[in-house]
Amino acid sequence: MKGSGIGMRLLAVAVISLTLIATSDCAGYRLSNNVWPSFYNLTINIQGDTTNPGSTFDGEVAITLQTNQSNLQEITLHKDALDISSCSLYNQNGLLQQSVATTSLIFDQETQQLTVPLSQALTANVNYTLHFQFTGTVRTDLVGLFSASYVEPESGKTKWVLLTQMQRINARLVFPCFDEPALKAQFEVHIGRPNGFNSISNTRLKATTSDAANNRYVDHFEVTPLMSTYLLAFVISEYSRVQGDTELALYSRPEYINKTTFSYKVGQQALAAYNEIFQLPYQQLGNDVLQFTSSPRFPHNGMENWGLIIYSDAVLVQDAGYTDGLKDLEFTTRIVVHEVSHMWFGDSVTFSWWSYFWLNEAFARYYEYFMTHQLSPEYQLDQQFVVRQLQLILRTDAVASTQPMTSLEANVQTPAQIANKFSSIAYAKGASIVRMWRNIMGGENFEKSINSYLKEYHLNSTKPSDLFTHLKENWPAQPAVDLDEFFTDFTEQEGYPMITVNFTEENHRAVLRQKRFLSNPGDGSNATILYTIPITFATNLKPNFQNMTPGIYFRKNITQVQLNSQNALDWIILNVQQSNYYRVLYDTPILNNIQLALTQSDHSSIAVENRAQLIDDLFNFAYAKMLDYAEVFQFIEYMSKEVHYIPWYAAYTGMERVAKRLTPHQLTNFEKYLKDITAAVYAKLTVNSRDYDVPLDVYNREMQVSWRCKYQNTACNNDVKISFEGNVEQPSPDYRETFYCAAARTTGYTRVLELYQKETNSAERDLLWKAASCTREYRNHYTTQILGNSTTVAQKTTGLAQMYEQNPNLISAIFSMITEDIQLLYAALGSWSTTAEVLSDLADYFTTTEQEQQFSEFIDKNSALFGDSALTLKTAQSTVSTNLQWADQRLGKLVNFLASRNSAAGLTIATTLLMLMSTLISLLLK
Ligand SMILES: *[C@@H]1O[C@H](CO)[C@@H](O)[C@H](O)[C@H]1NC(C)=O
Ligand SMILES: *[C@@H]1O[C@H](CO)[C@@H](O)[C@H](O)[C@H]1NC(C)=O
Ligand SMILES: *[C@@H]1O[C@H](CO)[C@@H](O)[C@H](O)[C@H]1NC(C)=O
Ligand SMILES: *[C@@H]1O[C@H](CO)[C@@H](O)[C@H](O)[C@H]1NC(C)=O
Ligand SMILES: *[C@@H]1O[C@H](CO)[C@@H](O)[C@H](O)[C@H]1NC(C)=O
Ligand SMILES: *[C@@H]1O[C@H](CO)[C@@H](O)[C@H](O)[C@H]1NC(C)=O
Ligand SMILES: [Zn+2]
Repeated sequence: MKGSGIGMRLLAVAVISLTLIATSDCAGYRLSNNVWPSFYNLTINIQGDTTNPGSTFDGEVAITLQTNQSNLQEITLHKDALDISSCSLYNQNGLLQQSVATTSLIFDQETQQLTVPLSQALTANVNYTLHFQFTGTVRTDLVGLFSASYVEPESGKTKWVLLTQMQRINARLVFPCFDEPALKAQFEVHIGRPNGFNSISNTRLKATTSDAANNRYVDHFEVTPLMSTYLLAFVISEYSRVQGDTELALYSRPEYINKTTFSYKVGQQALAAYNEIFQLPYQQLGNDVLQFTSSPRFPHNGMENWGLIIYSDAVLVQDAGYTDGLKDLEFTTRIVVHEVSHMWFGDSVTFSWWSYFWLNEAFARYYEYFMTHQLSPEYQLDQQFVVRQLQLILRTDAVASTQPMTSLEANVQTPAQIANKFSSIAYAKGASIVRMWRNIMGGENFEKSINSYLKEYHLNSTKPSDLFTHLKENWPAQPAVDLDEFFTDFTEQEGYPMITVNFTEENHRAVLRQKRFLSNPGDGSNATILYTIPITFATNLKPNFQNMTPGIYFRKNITQVQLNSQNALDWIILNVQQSNYYRVLYDTPILNNIQLALTQSDHSSIAVENRAQLIDDLFNFAYAKMLDYAEVFQFIEYMSKEVHYIPWYAAYTGMERVAKRLTPHQLTNFEKYLKDITAAVYAKLTVNSRDYDVPLDVYNREMQVSWRCKYQNTACNNDVKISFEGNVEQPSPDYRETFYCAAARTTGYTRVLELYQKETNSAERDLLWKAASCTREYRNHYTTQILGNSTTVAQKTTGLAQMYEQNPNLISAIFSMITEDIQLLYAALGSWSTTAEVLSDLADYFTTTEQEQQFSEFIDKNSALFGDSALTLKTAQSTVSTNLQWADQRLGKLVNFLASRNSAAGLTIATTLLMLMSTLISLLLK
């Protein structure tokens, strides 16, 4: 549910203080590089049997290592939560050199380092073998070696899966090891498992030997390529190979045989495509098998263990009619394409330290979109990338909590600091920056660089400078730029610039200035950072939106860039296809001309990405108080002719923050505005799917119907009602929740509720429950369903949240109903803390002083009931007042604009625009 806002905030505080504590103590978290492993011979034995695999395992490992020092007196490596029962050192001839008493081992919990004292110094440059026997825990918390279970439908029996997740630094929970990404070694894995289970690991199964007396078997696997510890994996289960052969195989529950064909096919396509594009086929990387498997419990969508990619079930398994909508298939395709790319970016070539984590994920996310675009162009992921990745991360990267892609190694030492690098900056900003490089260089040069980089660092580790060297080798000569500066400005510095554009010389010259864009300039961010910015543009005289090669770079040592035109310009648009990483603020006259151009035929050829960019930038400039929301809403009036999903995605993302803060009274005018600007797109899409829909039509319809019907658009509600009552269609899985939600708002509530009650598929039940909870018969739904005992506490809270989120003008009524007798809700939810969370989530939707007042009165009267959780209510109370203040300070002009626009029906848009501009200008002068 949404009610976790407060919990999240507390969590963020806790993480920050943890980082501080850890930083202040600069204990040596890094292993000294004077001893390194080359080979691990690892055996893990699972205990128990298939009905109860037990909560512990035992293991042994023989680590071949050497030193370059002549007098090394100790060996330090990692372990965590393992009990070591023996430790011994063998010399290069395999003879016991020292039996180390376990009591003499030194363990430091903070750094998770284990030091083995040596009675006799090692000889440099010869192999030794360090041998451990140990026991560990089969965990439940999704790290190290952990268990998951599922119920087999036919027998009703519980089945166990034991699997691993070593990333980030959890190999040390499974065996003592040198657990740093650059300390690559080969691994020979042996898995002892009870009869009835089988096991898979990174490499091909070589042999199985039996321990018949104990009804057990040991699976022996081929030696892995040289790789990082975090990529080791094994899975012990009753899965079988349901797809494929030994080169690409998919292991799953036998009953999923027909539900994994799609994922498998995507895997085949991705593998073939990468084999071709990287000019270094997968098998030549050093592992001759690639296996997919999935788990009912997994911390990520997928983990790229070399040769054994583990996914969550939701990615690999498609349930026909339930989870095989276009969005589901796109999701599966993207994740599979992402994970397979890691075999090259991450597994073969690995970042040398966590501070460069983006070297893996920037490329994986880039290929997730752009390789998928090559394989399945119908999803138009090249365009979706702009709104779903680039524009998303531009928001993150404009506030004080952001971070640079590359950090200093010294600043990434503790587990918390390492965790902090697993941020969307590494993925989404990384992919955006890779896209920028690629578009500037051109595809061919980019591929050459990537291929030589992958070849040179095969089985090796890299820093960003290694990548840059290869990019530079194929970088086009013109225009001149300090490439090192360009690369590091966007990777070592946080944030990004905004460019302001003004016309001078009677529109013969565009003057560009740069500064860092910040959402809340007072939040402690460094506002003075400058960037080397590639400048691309199109104008009304030359509306070429294809050329992404910069004509010039905005260097850091100059204060402005001037673009001169022989003929006067009406408009200019910078950052063609939003290919580069910055925002653009146009002076008002230019913006007016752009708006005019957008209303003309084919939007005057302005690229769809740039339409989305204009919208997203304006909303963010308004949020940062550089212009007024009224101006933004004025600008997007052009959308009454916009039918493309991508600009609409940007518009709704921007509108969300504003619409949520409008009072029920103000909403009436917003609803009219929404109806007007969605006129063309709604007429094009309607509420019913059509055979000739492309995927983005399907996504777009879902979004439009969701917004229009939520904001009480009569046509939308009627059209859905007619379609639903006439059974015109069984909505596709993508659209079902929105469609049924809209139906439940009108006359369809009882029938949607029945569908929910009859449904047996659990994901579908959740969906139908949420849809039914959109009803405007809130009293009936509350009394019989939410308070009734046929629903779980989780359903009660999601159902309640749906009721008020999906019906913005019922918020007061729902709050009054709930607080009439709060004991009823408490009894249904079972705790005052959950009750407080529900109320605090509801309060986040308050928009009027009357609501604020009622909430205060409620708290005054009832806080004693809530005990400690009264604090949750107090915090919510102060959020309400912050929200009301924000609306008060920021939305006044918008509210007036929406009101006057709707009453001044006779005025043309252009006149309204002029009126508005003059009010804004007079405001600036004050
Ligand atoms: C690894 O250990 C197993 C026994 O645990 C042994 O049979 C095997 O020969 C060892 N492999 C190597 C390469 O030493
Ligand atoms: C040490 O062992 C590794 C891995 O088994 C092997 O590749 C290497 O050649 C050995 N080095 C020496 C000096 O024996
Ligand atoms: C999978 O599909 C095949 C062919 O349609 C069918 O014979 C088989 O029974 C299906 N298996 C399962 C487990 O659904
Ligand atoms: C890894 O790269 C470094 C630096 O380029 C090089 O010195 C080293 O030999 C490489 N190692 C391997 C195993 O190729
Ligand atoms: C802000 O960034 C500038 C440019 O990188 C740098 O010179 C300056 O030291 C930074 N200021 C602070 C307070 O970090
Ligand atoms: C340039 O345009 C911006 C944005 O409209 C405006 O604030 C600024 O005053 C203009 N600068 C000049 C020199 O005209
Ligand atoms: Zn990844």
